Amino acid sequence: HAIHVLNGPNLNLLGKREPEIYGRATLADVEAELRARAEAEGVALTFLQSNDEGALVTAVQEAGLAGAGIVVNAGAYTHTSIALRDAIAGSGALAVEVHLSNVHARESFRHRSMIAPVCIGVIAGFGTQSYALGFDACLAALRRRAD
Ligand code: DQA
Repeated sequence: HAIHVLNGPNLNLLGKREPEIYGRATLADVEAELRARAEAEGVALTFLQSNDEGALVTAVQEAGLAGAGIVVNAGAYTHTSIALRDAIAGSGALAVEVHLSNVHARESFRHRSMIAPVCIGVIAGFGTQSYALGFDACLAALRRRAD
């Protein structure tokens, strides 16, 4: 199986950015942990970050059309991007939405997700562990689909 981990705007600043909310681990740390997990499970991992909505739409399309699973932290685009939602729905991508922070314990504008309705499920609030949980959930769903 193949899993594409997609990161949206400002996640390149992870480790420096509001560490009281997002922690001290960097995106490179997250990638290293997921690469170890992917290797142990025999999964081909693609890991990408972009601040550009269009680049994320293209990445979702490519993953979905290739039959890969997606673990997506869309950052603030989670709350605004109908284009990302349509890319997940339109490419038939099997997607898991993840967030470092518990978005439901934060500002009300973070409570609504545009992409959650077209994802299998949502994991939020576990820091970098949200990615590991999302990876496992995505892989399980890919394996179920392949049965
Ligand atoms: C985030 C939560 C979003 O509301 C925010 O815009 C982010 C990060 C998270 O991982 O907790 O950029 O997706």
